[in-house]
Amino acid sequence: MQRILVNCALPYANSSLHLGHIAGSYLGADIFVRALRLMGEDVLFVCGNDEYGTPITIQADKEHVSPAEIADRYHSEHEKTFGKMQITFDIFSRTTSPVHRKSASDLFLRLYNNGFLSENTMISPYCPTCGRFLPDRYVEGTCPYCGNTNARGDQCDVCGRILDPQDLKDPRCIISGDTPEFRETKHLFFRLDKFQDRLESWINSKTNWKPHVLEFTKGLISGGLKPRPATRDMNWGIPVPVEGYEGKVIYVWIEALMGYLSFAKELSVKRGDPDLWKRYWEKPETRSYYFLGKDNITFHTIIWPAIVMGLGDLNLPYDVPANEYLEFNGEKFSKSRGIGFTVESMLSAVDSNYLRYYIATILPENGDSNFDIDEMQEKVNSEFISKYGNLLHRVVSFVVSNKIDLLTRKMDPSDQDIISRYFQSYGEYSAMIKNVEIKKALKIWLDLVQEANAYVNRSEPWKLVKTDISACAGKLYTSLKLLQILTVMIYPYTPEASLRCLRIMGFEGTIEQAYSTMSHESVSFRPAVAEIPFQRVEIKNVNPNSLDLTVGKIEKVENHPDADKLYILQVSLGDRKIQLAAGLRKYYSIDQILGKKIIVVANLKKARFRGMESEGMLLAADDGTSTHFLTVSDSVQPGTKIKIGPYTFNGTKVVTIDELASYKLLVTEKGEVSATLGSTEGILLAGNEPVRPESPVGAGARVR
Ligand code: MF3
Ligand code: ZN
Repeated sequence: MQRILVNCALPYANSSLHLGHIAGSYLGADIFVRALRLMGEDVLFVCGNDEYGTPITIQADKEHVSPAEIADRYHSEHEKTFGKMQITFDIFSRTTSPVHRKSASDLFLRLYNNGFLSENTMISPYCPTCGRFLPDRYVEGTCPYCGNTNARGDQCDVCGRILDPQDLKDPRCIISGDTPEFRETKHLFFRLDKFQDRLESWINSKTNWKPHVLEFTKGLISGGLKPRPATRDMNWGIPVPVEGYEGKVIYVWIEALMGYLSFAKELSVKRGDPDLWKRYWEKPETRSYYFLGKDNITFHTIIWPAIVMGLGDLNLPYDVPANEYLEFNGEKFSKSRGIGFTVESMLSAVDSNYLRYYIATILPENGDSNFDIDEMQEKVNSEFISKYGNLLHRVVSFVVSNKIDLLTRKMDPSDQDIISRYFQSYGEYSAMIKNVEIKKALKIWLDLVQEANAYVNRSEPWKLVKTDISACAGKLYTSLKLLQILTVMIYPYTPEASLRCLRIMGFEGTIEQAYSTMSHESVSFRPAVAEIPFQRVEIKNVNPNSLDLTVGKIEKVENHPDADKLYILQVSLGDRKIQLAAGLRKYYSIDQILGKKIIVVANLKKARFRGMESEGMLLAADDGTSTHFLTVSDSVQPGTKIKIGPYTFNGTKVVTIDELASYKLLVTEKGEVSATLGSTEGILLAGNEPVRPESPVGAGARVR
């Protein structure tokens, strides 16, 4: 028996899980764990939320709530989503848990005492208005390379360059809007440089790793490792346990990695087995795997191994089988650009077994891959349901309706032969799983399913039933044996559906027993009713839209007291009223807009314009010389949601102006408004009526 620890990258607790997360790490890990457990290995499966750091505080600032509230919300949401996806960790904890706070603090101190954390100073942006140092992502300004005026202090999203806050022209604090000063601040730096040689020889010993992970890591090491900041000027985090660092926290990346160890300790306490974690972390024969997306490789192949070396007595990663990216209709999944799907939205359209099956067929194990809803429907129907589910149904219903007594079976050598070949194929399959080739292993299964169909067809039990009843029973028994092996193989991919199949086959036992009796000659199948295992799927109405576009009615118009371009509008959205600031004063008099229907982006990040709050934005077309608000006829009721193609704009989370821009709203030749999202392109509709600018505008005018 092999002891195995499987750790999965800790998702940020700042947003919903999307399909990219599932394909990048969690699904592959869950399949790996289930398959190995079935084979009798001793596996511990650990994950939790990454709850500190700027990703969480920025979301909190956006929504005007505390970071703890964001972390709580997404912790319970992620737990539910993983549950619905049948991704079953032994523990799904959080980095805000008391066990982790203590453990991370202790580990940090140990690194410090072992001489791997050194003090140094750096220059950081400081906002005099907020009275604090600003994390990189809290500074925005103009990109020195491409001129993008909304570049962040860590990266420019337009040209993709990595930046330092000092690189930005006209930097500003995203909270106060004021210009930050650059001040000296003292930090502890993790001495990666001291691990250069050890990391190098360790990585050279890794012959089993995926080539892309290995090459990437070797490249970074040979470029020379430098000390990296290990503390931050922030208060949302775990305080630095060293004197003189009051008001600073452990840098979230270092601290989150320690979560893997803390969560195993936490589980030991929960299970009343205090040494449990030691078996998985200290016994050198235990193998530890880290499942993650490729953007996380550095942290797991360099930084975490260096921390482990610095601590002294824990296991280094055995394998880091990082996946590449899942794309959606040819574009990278992007939360901020509204591209792709949340897991929840997809699960409202398709059963989790099918979603797992399809994603497993396209896991980006050795290159980026593409998620396509039509392809999902096609593969699920033509492979999983027609070839596997229907075969099972054909065999079972034949046995049931002809009251075949399987105990009277007579088998010929070719029947024995195909069963033993399937059993051998299971061996190849399990070798692939152990090598974390989840997608390839599934391909073996599919080939065997095809072959099983051919076996049943050429056996012709419907003829034998009239001529040789015991040979007929032999063929059906053989078919059920093949289905037993196939069901064991597909179980890790589609657990709940496979258990259902086992029951329909009349196998009286657990999946573990189905596994351990695969090679047994005599297994009892007693199918009672010919239940249909799966219905063909038709996937529709999956909504990739994150915007909420709602028809509003302007009920009151006033001049903004301090901004001569703006009106302050009171707008009814049917069931609620909101206030908007709108730059329409130059183009319309109050009388021209009072009582009019408009299209409101109702889930936009709230903003203040010279002291007046705006809870959304009205859409208007702008051709460079004038502005025309979008409208619909009087028959459309306030509160109506706008649609594009089959999709409704009924997003619920807060979006930014950049996300709005990603929909590329434009006036068409016909004077309607088109939007693009991934491969979906269409015009904005309110019911059946196209949305239009209130007065004619040239085609190509941008809508904002
Ligand atoms: N939260 C990070 C992300 O989603 C991953 C952290 S993995 C950890 O990219 F191990 F460092 F926690
Ligand atoms: Zn740029």
